[in-house]
Amino acid sequence: MAAIRVAPTRATRALNLLRAVQFTHPPTCPCHSNPGHHNHNNVTGAKQAKRALATPIDTSRQKEYAFQMAASNISTVAQLDAMKACVEGLDREGIAYEVYQKVRVEPKDTSIKEAIAFSKQHMPDAFLAVGGGSVIDTAKLMNLYTCCPENDFLDFVNAPLGKGLPISKPLLPLIAVPTTAGTGSETTGTAIFDLVSKRAKTGIAHRNLKPTRQSSSIHTSAGANRVVGICDPLNTRSMPSAVHSSSGLDVLCHSLESWTAIPYYERTPRPTNPILRPAYQGANPISDIFSLQSLRSTVKYLPRAVADPDDHEAQSQMLLAATLAGVGFGNAGVHLCHGLSYGISGQNPGYRHKGYVVDTPIIPHGVSVAVTAPAVFKFTGASNPERHLAAAECFGVDVSNVKKESAGEVLSEALAAFLVKLGDQPRGIKALGFGKEHVEGLVEATIPQARVLMLAPSLETEDVEVEREQLRGLLMEAMEY
Ligand SMILES: NC(=O)c1ccc[n+]([C@@H]2O[C@H](COP(=O)([O-])OP(=O)(O)OC[C@H]3O[C@@H](n4cnc5c(N)ncnc54)[C@H](O)[C@@H]3O)[C@@H](O)[C@H]2O)c1
Ligand SMILES: [Zn+2]
Repeated sequence: MAAIRVAPTRATRALNLLRAVQFTHPPTCPCHSNPGHHNHNNVTGAKQAKRALATPIDTSRQKEYAFQMAASNISTVAQLDAMKACVEGLDREGIAYEVYQKVRVEPKDTSIKEAIAFSKQHMPDAFLAVGGGSVIDTAKLMNLYTCCPENDFLDFVNAPLGKGLPISKPLLPLIAVPTTAGTGSETTGTAIFDLVSKRAKTGIAHRNLKPTRQSSSIHTSAGANRVVGICDPLNTRSMPSAVHSSSGLDVLCHSLESWTAIPYYERTPRPTNPILRPAYQGANPISDIFSLQSLRSTVKYLPRAVADPDDHEAQSQMLLAATLAGVGFGNAGVHLCHGLSYGISGQNPGYRHKGYVVDTPIIPHGVSVAVTAPAVFKFTGASNPERHLAAAECFGVDVSNVKKESAGEVLSEALAAFLVKLGDQPRGIKALGFGKEHVEGLVEATIPQARVLMLAPSLETEDVEVEREQLRGLLMEAMEY
């Protein structure tokens, strides 16, 4: 990863000018084109009174009525040789940089804080993240806290573990060059880390955390020329088979969870202002296209990419699937596999996944999400049998004579068969070292994952005792498949 100092260029000035023109012209859509629109402090008393009549006072119980898409533009740059090529390019252009190499695989808050301290020491003008999700997420948070030095670390961390404050400031440009085909972090406004004191993973999620080529404002999600992720399949070729497999399983769960998440118009509470709409909004017709396509591709290409290091077609398709899934879940969200995974990785009893070269025990993120997937989709099947059957069809199941009541079970069986055939996967959380005695701890680590649980179909989120009981049942079911 490199932190870069860049002089303002003519192109930057032109883009700023373009943005200025865009926002000073009368907006076509008052909610999304004009940054001043939501500054309701400016409205006159008469207008305010009129608006108060039209707007219900208590919005907390109202269901959502709209969704918005935010996506990064991805440029495929041929022949990029990841870090070496980046360093060569920076040297050739005479751009000063510092390389930070101490990113932790599956970051912890402690490793993130060290990285932030490094960044603050150098005060870069831009960030270039070369690596998998661990690197890209660390770079996002270096960027955030370098731009917001007055904030405490927990200020932006997802509530209720942190304060969940929105990021209202423009951040520095961040260009992401993924070297795994998994997280889609180059497209999302999410950064994940292990909050050691809570024994669970959590993160920060806000649109303004998305990689961007230029300083963004809170309204630039539709801005022009935001080239931010460089996805070149050559950069994933060197992945060991185990990393292909676990990062690919992350794609599988991103697509399945976003496809089956509750629809955006069932999500509560409706925000009082579109600025406050969460990045994870629920299934919506645009995310659906990305999610289903990435699911189809993953089922087709992941087994090939894992089995044959020379299958470059499969590797390329997996990188594309990862990015497509990133756009899908980055707007729709994920739910139970991810919600459960944060406790599973945070409370690892000592499991070391084969093929990962690290000093400490590790349950790679993709493994931690896929391990509960057969139990999760059996549980969620009744919420939307049609979607679960459509997903089962992607695994090659003939669903023409399957009853709707069996949709969850059919998808669960298809998933389990897929995981077994892929190989080297723990067949349930028991194989990771968890037993009945760990279930309570895992439930307590899952309950605060409100950001994803609010999108979980079939899960009771109004009554926490019922929710706990459901999660206990799910974890027991996930012991073995
Ligand atoms: N921000 C998001 O939207 C998002 C989404 C999902 C997951 N995540 C997070 O991302 C992290 C996982 O990221 P990941 O799955 O991309 O893996 P990773 O970045 O943790 O890398 C896994 C391992 O593969 C190695 N590696 C990476 N690319 C390689 C290559 N081309 N050749 C050889 N080795 C390579 C790394 O050095 C590391 O040892 C987790 O912390 C997870 O929680 C973030
Ligand atoms: Zn994931």
